This record gives sequence, C-alpha cells and structure tokens, in this order.
Amino acid sequence: MLWATFLALTAVAVAVPTSDNIPPYLQKRQGSTTMLRFGCSQVVIDRLDPLVNPGQAPSPHMHQIVGGNRFNTTMTTGDVSNGATCTTCAFSEDFSNYWTANLYFKARNGTYKRVKQGASALQFSDNFSTKTDGGILVYYVSAQPGKITAFKPGFRMLVGDPTNRKLDTKMKMQNCYRCYTGPNFGGDTAAPCSDGKLDTQALPKDICKGGIRSNVLFPTCWDGTNLDSPDHKSHIAYPTTGPAAFLSLGGSCPTTHPIRIPQLMYEVVWDTTPFNNKADWPADGSQPFYFSYGDNTGYGQHADYVFGWKGNELQKGMDASGCFGAKCKDMKNQAIEPAKKCAVSKKVNEPLDEWLTSLPGMEVPMAMA
Ligand SMILES: *[C@@H]1O[C@H](CO)[C@@H](O)[C@H](O)[C@H]1NC(C)=O
Ligand SMILES: *[C@@H]1O[C@H](CO)[C@@H](O)[C@H](O)[C@H]1NC(C)=O
Ligand SMILES: *[C@@H]1O[C@H](CO)[C@@H](O)[C@H](O)[C@H]1NC(C)=O
Repeated sequence: MLWATFLALTAVAVAVPTSDNIPPYLQKRQGSTTMLRFGCSQVVIDRLDPLVNPGQAPSPHMHQIVGGNRFNTTMTTGDVSNGATCTTCAFSEDFSNYWTANLYFKARNGTYKRVKQGASALQFSDNFSTKTDGGILVYYVSAQPGKITAFKPGFRMLVGDPTNRKLDTKMKMQNCYRCYTGPNFGGDTAAPCSDGKLDTQALPKDICKGGIRSNVLFPTCWDGTNLDSPDHKSHIAYPTTGPAAFLSLGGSCPTTHPIRIPQLMYEVVWDTTPFNNKADWPADGSQPFYFSYGDNTGYGQHADYVFGWKGNELQKGMDASGCFGAKCKDMKNQAIEPAKKCAVSKKVNEPLDEWLTSLPGMEVPMAMA
C-alpha cells in the first residue's frame, strides 16, 4: 500500500516538468494532452487593427499587440514569419501576432487612464512569462485523441464581437473574467472559464484586490481550405456539441469544418490594483473599467490572431505528448531580455498613459435617439 503510494507520487513527480511551475489545477490535467503556455511581452500598443481595419491608421480603437515585429497597418495576406526578425514570445520561432483591446479605468471625474497588463504569477509560471513587460499569456492546446493540425502560413482569425453588450450563455466557456481576491493572484484555483462561481462572463462589478484576469478562447475546427474569410470567422467553427471547454476536445467537428486546429486561448492579467479606491469610482455605481471600444460590460471582448510560426515548429508541439508550459521537447526558446528588446514603432501618435478626457477614437459621443 505504502509502496504503491510512493510509486504513484514518483510517477507524478516525473511527469511534471521541473523547469516550469504551473498551477496545480493544470498539473492535474497533464496526460497525453499538450498545453503550450507561454508569455509574450508587448511589441507595441497602437490604434491599429490590420485584420479588421487594414490600412486604417488610426483604426476605431486601441489595441495591445504581442509577438513578431512584422506587425503593420495592413496584414490581410501572406506569411508573417517571412521578414520578421524578432519576437516578444518565449518560443523564438513564433512570429505570430496576437492582439486584444486595451482596458481603461474611468474615474469619478469622467477621465480615463489605461490599465496596464501584469506578467504571469510568479509561483505558477516559468522564468520568462513572469518577467514580461505588459503582454499576455498564450495557450495552444492539443487535446488528444486524434490529430491536431497546426495552422497554415497565412492563417488569420478573429473571435468575439466588439458591438456585443449582452450575455450569451453559449459562450460561457469561451470568454470570461476572474476577479483575483488577493495579492499574488488570489483565487487562481481553477482552470479559466471553468468555474461557475469564480468566472464571470461580465467584467466583475466590485473591487478585485489582486486585479482582473480575462480569458478568450478561439474555435477549434477549420474548413481546411480558407486561410481567412471576409468576417475573419466563417472559415472556423465550434464542434457540433458547442464550444469546447478549455483543455478539452469537445464533440466532433462539423462536416463543413472537419479539421481540428489547436485550441488557442489568450490570458490577460489587468493590473487594476492602482484603481481600487472606491472613492474614485463613478458616483452612479457603474462598473468603472472600460475596454478601448467603449464597453464596460465585458461582453464585447474580442481577440485577433495572425499565425506566424516558422516552418513546422507549432506542429512539432502539437504532435508532442504531455508538454505543459513554456518549453516543449526540442522546440526553440529565447531568454526574456532579447524578447523585451523586440519592438515595433507606433504608427499612430496619441497620448497613452495620461488621464484622457475620452477613449482614443471615441471622442464623438454616440448619437442619441
Ligand atoms: C529561474 O530563475 C531563478 C532566479 O534567477 C533561478 O534560480 C532558477 O534556476 C531559474 N529557473 C529556470 C528553470 O531557469
Ligand atoms: C509596414 O508597411 C510599410 C508600408 O507598406 C512598409 O514600408 C514597412 O516596411 C512595413 N514594416 C514592417 C515592419 O513590415
Ligand atoms: C480625475 O481623477 C483622477 C483620479 O482621482 C485624478 O488623478 C485626475 O487628476 C482627475 N482629473 C481632473 C481633470 O480632475
């Protein structure tokens, strides 16, 4: 009995990578599934959206962008790994671009201040991802059994809708917020978007002592032909049983979109802690955190992706078994210092970290009926 326990503990100790700390709730899930989980430092914050508003500088709202330095005002076609010379991500062959809207705090006097992103929690992550400057944590999950086909060069997609302000219960496991209840990421005890109490589909209504984490998951099925589509969504789909929970395969893919692609998730930790003085919150009791597109519900959260891994590197990861974290077999990594040096120059010059009288691009008040 004791010996069996010892063996079981030894087996667990061997399975868990020694290099990366990952939260216990994720360690429990480690088996044949591979979960690449890695930080990408900020490459630029700019009012551009090369996928949805190509050629527009400024685009309608502000974004925070990470990944390769090929990011540009227009990115509608082509392989971005060609011509990129550096990346802000832990995997040095990943020149993809990942972006989300920025978050702002609206003070009682009506002015806005940008909320910075924090790095990954120290006790739950690797030496790279805990030291990023702004940026996000990216996840690529290869849930077994069956083949997961990495994205092809030139692939792009979008998830979420910035005009949405209503609860969509179907998206419960795809778009969520976690209110950290204390310093050091208090409340980080369950997988993202998995806990009916800890995770909310709307931005938290009250003070989060340790900041707010947001998670966005992308669909997991692809039509196998189109690298993009006019709405940047029609070439991808959810399994027939509905959106797959994080780290799971879900049901089978629809016949129109038969190819299983990696489950991609973005995780952004918003350091809202400088804004936790209730006396500064709007007097009418409204939720004070606004996304750059003018949303304080959180239902309009969206995320953009332009695939840009070199050669076969992402497929190697998806074919590997049991990698959990920011390292995987012979996939190439880089140190945090060169990653932080990788940057793209801003195309739209407007104030970023001052108190602003309106959200950038939202100066014109909405027409009243
Ligand atoms: C992470 O950094 C700490 C402090 O520099 C060091 O002691 C530790 O060995 C590093 N871990 C890895 C896996 O590199
Ligand atoms: C961005 O696009 C402009 C105009 O096409 C081009 O001159 C510039 O080299 C591009 N920058 C990068 C980093 O690709
Ligand atoms: C508005 O409120 C913020 C937070 O209290 C303060 O830092 C800022 O100076 C105020 N701005 C104006 C114009 O009063």
